[in-house]
Amino acid sequence: MSMRGPKRHLLIPIDPYTLSKGAERVKAALDKALALSNLTDTVRVVETGTVGHHEHGVLLIVYPDGVVYGDVTVDNIPQIVREHLQENRVVEGLVVRDVRIGPFDTRARRVEKQVRLVLRNVGLIDPESIEDYIAHEGYEAAARALTSLSPEQVLETVKASGIQGRGGAGFPTGVKWSFAAREKAPQKYIVCNADEGEPGTFKDRLILEGDPHSVLEGMLLAGYAVGATKGYVYIRGEYRMSIARMRKAIDQARSKGLLGRNILGSGFDFDVEVREGAGAYICGEETALLESMEGKRGEPRNKPPFPPQAGLWGMPTVVNNVETLANIPLIVKNGASWYRQFGTPTCPGTKVFTLVGNIVSPGLIEVPMGITLREVIFDIGHGIPRGRGFLFAQTGGTTGGILAAGELDVPMAYDTLRQVGSGLGSGALLVVDDSNCVVDLVQNFVEFFNHESCGKCTLCREGTGRLLEILHRLTSGQGDPRDIDLIRRLSVNMKRAAFCGLGQAAPTPILGALQRFEEIFREHAESHTCRAGVCRMRAEVAA
Ligand SMILES: Cc1cc2nc3c(=O)[nH]c(=O)nc-3n(C[C@H](O)[C@H](O)[C@H](O)COP(=O)(O)O)c2cc1C
Ligand code: SF4
Repeated sequence: MSMRGPKRHLLIPIDPYTLSKGAERVKAALDKALALSNLTDTVRVVETGTVGHHEHGVLLIVYPDGVVYGDVTVDNIPQIVREHLQENRVVEGLVVRDVRIGPFDTRARRVEKQVRLVLRNVGLIDPESIEDYIAHEGYEAAARALTSLSPEQVLETVKASGIQGRGGAGFPTGVKWSFAAREKAPQKYIVCNADEGEPGTFKDRLILEGDPHSVLEGMLLAGYAVGATKGYVYIRGEYRMSIARMRKAIDQARSKGLLGRNILGSGFDFDVEVREGAGAYICGEETALLESMEGKRGEPRNKPPFPPQAGLWGMPTVVNNVETLANIPLIVKNGASWYRQFGTPTCPGTKVFTLVGNIVSPGLIEVPMGITLREVIFDIGHGIPRGRGFLFAQTGGTTGGILAAGELDVPMAYDTLRQVGSGLGSGALLVVDDSNCVVDLVQNFVEFFNHESCGKCTLCREGTGRLLEILHRLTSGQGDPRDIDLIRRLSVNMKRAAFCGLGQAAPTPILGALQRFEEIFREHAESHTCRAGVCRMRAEVAA
């Protein structure tokens, strides 16, 4: 987006949510109104990815004024065009004040307590324009790496940055890359894992929709560092907009010589293709993903060998998450010590979350590692609606651990959350208020795992079914005091002995909930009451 030319830029975030609220109609009305008012030369309308504030419907951000209009409808357009764009008077009644995201803030890249590194361009640039990405320092890291850094130097920078993978397990990215780099093989691959199958998680989708080139540039740098010449982006099939924008980004990068043969005259070849997933959660597990890419049933493989040694078609393969890859260009461009100024010494950088559940301002946020849950919920998310009390938060998607009120000040980072039996997981942060029942919610999570279990190993296939049966008993007033112990034993065994991460992680929320809210489980099992009045039995306060 050039700063010369048009006097004003109107940013309109287009994502599936705003589309459902009529964003396309608003955009069409805007185009028409600007043409009728002869403003098309002085006002440019830019479709961007989401800015993450779903509570305000269709947003219109007027730049450089820094004014954000919310819940915009077709009917508001004539007024905005006439008063704001022609007469320079802000339409106060339509302004939303709590949205502090926009290009007016991104120079400092700080918004309230957020630090927007990965989301630096999301909501600011036109994701379908490589020129916009380049105008915002895009492909500078790739150009620098290919022309003046060796693959080893790129690898060392990523290693020294200390970045840990953002797909859930938190494995150090530079270390993973070094395993692939040291292999000798006729072909190596980079796979971007954009499967994102956890309920409530959509951060990768919004990164892909808002800034696909940052992910592509990250893949290119990964390829250069480890000696891979081919990349695949494995995207969940339902993510139509992500797929379309990524395909367009690939075409644009190819046409500018940033993908393909002899990139920027460096002698390095790298190309990327999109592969569509069919919607099975297990296909996000990296080895099941590779099986699925090879056209087989999506079931996890035995490890070792790990994918960096033998991955896609037996060749060394780096599988990285979307958010991990979107961090890479910044790290290579600005250096490891720059990156380490964000986050904590043991867990550098930022984390993107989708803030969902009982929260006043849900949406997409990016925060430095080490921020407390309290700051995220009450400062960024503006607390819990309707004056309800906080019951718990789940910090890592459906497989994440549970944090109760006494743990609101635990720093959110891989190591500190691990100490309390939780994790950062997929980046969904679910806030639950005291009108909900923890047993009922845990039952919902187990339903998901039971449905998504691939069936390869008995402990997970049968275990999730048995857990579901017991939880059904508890929530329908048929429970027995022995059920609590049964749940605990089964969960511990699954955690220890299930074949892959799905079965091992499925009990995490159950054990976390049992540890913190055992009395609520006991009320369900012994006196057959649900204090929240959610489960199918007498809603009485048992305590
Ligand atoms: C059941 C299951 C589902 C997973 N789904 C995803 C996913 O959708 N996206 C993702 O990046 N990682 C997912 N993972 C983690 C991947 O196996 C892998 O660790 C990750 O893609 C590595 O990338 P990173 O090092 O950049 O984090 C999943 C793991 C399990 C066990
Ligand atoms: S743990 Fe579950 S998902 Fe993983 S291999 Fe076993 S049955 Fe399949």
